Amino acid sequence: MKTLIIQYTPRNKQSTTKQLLDSFLKNCDDDIEILDLTKSAPEFLFENAISAMMKRNHGGAMLNASEQSVLKNIDRMTQQFVKADAVVFAFPMYNFSMPGIVKTYLDLVAQRGQTWDIDANGNYVGKMKGKRALILMSCAGVYNEEPYKSWDHTFGLMKTILSFMGFAPIQMVAAQGTAIPDMQSTLLAQAIQNTLTIAHTWNASMPTLAK
Ligand SMILES: Cc1cc2nc3c(=O)[nH]c(=O)nc-3n(C[C@H](O)[C@H](O)[C@H](O)COP(=O)(O)O)c2cc1C
Repeated sequence: MKTLIIQYTPRNKQSTTKQLLDSFLKNCDDDIEILDLTKSAPEFLFENAISAMMKRNHGGAMLNASEQSVLKNIDRMTQQFVKADAVVFAFPMYNFSMPGIVKTYLDLVAQRGQTWDIDANGNYVGKMKGKRALILMSCAGVYNEEPYKSWDHTFGLMKTILSFMGFAPIQMVAAQGTAIPDMQSTLLAQAIQNTLTIAHTWNASMPTLAK
């Protein structure tokens, strides 16, 4: 089973999110492929790319050589995502959600015919069924209770996007309160423990999940 790690932890050695990811990687015996978005940034979908995508993915038309070349990197990233058996996202919370670079990546792989489609009855179908997803995140605040709970759009949005593609289950581990000295170390220890629990059963639980 191949797990694709989609990582955006630009603070590198300083990164709390990276601590969660490292715990996962050290304790998961899956075949791992890492996409580091700080080194391979996804492209924005400007006019040329969107029109080529619409022409091919929604219009069913063949692309000419120049349109194919516009989509070359976008399609390569999408194929890497589609071929994974499971995905792990690792990023900090920015402005109550995922960082823009992660959203840009998701906009790019959310291609009709690749990660989702519309069936003969006009219903949306996720094409990533039988695959699981994990989101590792850290954030300065704590969002467990109102009024702050509804400020956090990270998990809700990630879950909607990944569910639409068919992923299940979609789990999330958050190291919250990284800016709160009294809570930071306890919450991080809990988050690392939760990550380890998931990592230890990452492979073993797949046959049940795929049913
Ligand atoms: C641009 C930016 C926006 C941020 N927005 C939020 C936010 O909305 N809520 C929050 O709790 N923390 C926010 N933070 C703080 C980070 O999420 C927090 O410091 C996190 O632990 C950083 O993770 P890292 O150590 O993996 O880089 C923001 C940080 C940056 C740089």
